[in-house]
Amino acid sequence: MADKRVTSGIKGLDEMLNGGFLPGSMVLVRGAPGTGKTSLALQFLIYGAVKHNEPGLLISFEEFPSSLYRDAESLGWDLKELEASGRLHLMFTSPEVFLASLEFPDSRLNRLILEANIRRLALDSVTHFNRLTDDAQELRCIYTSVANSLRRERITAILLGEEGRAEYRRAFQGGLSFIVDVIILLRYVEIESAMQRAIVVLKMRGSNHAKEIRHYEIGQGGLTILETFKGCEGLLSGIPHRARP
Ligand SMILES: Nc1ncnc2c1ncn2[C@@H]1O[C@H](COP(=O)(O)OP(=O)(O)OP(=O)(O)O)[C@@H](O)[C@H]1O
Ligand SMILES: [Mg+2]
Repeated sequence: MADKRVTSGIKGLDEMLNGGFLPGSMVLVRGAPGTGKTSLALQFLIYGAVKHNEPGLLISFEEFPSSLYRDAESLGWDLKELEASGRLHLMFTSPEVFLASLEFPDSRLNRLILEANIRRLALDSVTHFNRLTDDAQELRCIYTSVANSLRRERITAILLGEEGRAEYRRAFQGGLSFIVDVIILLRYVEIESAMQRAIVVLKMRGSNHAKEIRHYEIGQGGLTILETFKGCEGLLSGIPHRARP
């Protein structure tokens, strides 16, 4: 039987993913500041909650709650209303508290996951784990413990990774790219003196996926995937140039 895919809520992205994520996948979304990582994660959670009645949980190490509500409102989303209806849960915490709570079946986090039947989760962002240790082995243990907890509950999870921060490179020492099932890259590219946004699926375990690099925009309703970049090479190196005819 074909796997029922978990749709991302972003039509063009689902096409790139051959229909969506495989259930229970761990997805790493990498991108520089402002590329739209938090927006993509919210879109995934809100779509699941509203269209599929799948309760979602956002765990943020990141934003002040007030700025998250404000940013979401600018994209047309009323997070307070979704929270009040029990379809979306937001948890503002620290990496330390989050990791400790994974260990305790009776923690607020684990009770919420079970009682609210959380099916979709987003973690904003995993880069914060990197400041907990300088030891690559220990970092790998942290990622593995997060992955095991999520996989145990068969939750489809989006982990956000901030590129450009010095700590980010250490995430690779922790083997994060090997632990996750899917990697999506969000990039700024400069073409003829204009900044454009590019999205690509780098890896998807257990499934075929599009290899092309596509434009996207952010606005009301979140991310919109546009056409494929044509006639350019070197987009991912950050030094695009025209393809030779
Ligand atoms: N209403 C809007 N209309 C158009 N663009 C918007 C709107 N709201 C946000 N954006 C764009 O989205 C970007 C921020 O998106 P988001 O916060 O999801 O990025 P991020 O990758 O999570 O950033 P950070 O790394 O700083 O957390 C803004 O820089 C802006 O360009
Ligand atoms: Mg963000």
